[in-house]
Amino acid sequence: MAFGLPAAAVWRFLWELSDTFTVSTVEAGENGDQAASVQSVRTYGRLASYNAQASRAILYMSRHGTTHSLKVNTTLVEPFAAHNGSFYLFLGELEKHEGTEMLLCARMVQNIDGVQLALLETAVLSQRTYFQSRRLQKKQ
Ligand SMILES: *[C@@H]1O[C@H](CO)[C@@H](O)[C@H](O)[C@H]1NC(C)=O
Ligand SMILES: *[C@@H]1O[C@H](CO)[C@@H](O)[C@H](O)[C@H]1NC(C)=O
Repeated sequence: MAFGLPAAAVWRFLWELSDTFTVSTVEAGENGDQAASVQSVRTYGRLASYNAQASRAILYMSRHGTTHSLKVNTTLVEPFAAHNGSFYLFLGELEKHEGTEMLLCARMVQNIDGVQLALLETAVLSQRTYFQSRRLQKKQ
């Protein structure tokens, strides 16, 4: 990370963020915690619950009959107008410590009610294809 800027966030759909998700950037944690993995991501989902006292939100998305969820630490994006059932886009650092659940430490939140999610998904997928082809070209 040059000049201490946060890393560029990659798009990850909520259904891609399972416990088996492998992060491409593995850094030592704040306290030299080698077991921690951190990656900057953008993801979105529906708000299932929000606890302002604990600065904790839970996002979920249902897809193909399976519900995927993610816990979010909202300390850095407060106050935020949370409405259960609304869609939010979060940008932040996804942290996975050994033996604990994955947690997204948010540094940006945006309500995306009204956004056509099918179109957003298509855009994310075509951006991925583009980045992949660019990487392949660089290798040649
Ligand atoms: C949102 O949902 C949580 C539980 O999932 C509930 O405790 C809370 O009261 C709800 N908040 C609103 C504003 O409906
Ligand atoms: C939430 O994020 C804040 C700010 O980065 C941090 O100080 C706090 O320890 C985090 N809380 C949890 C439970 O991870």
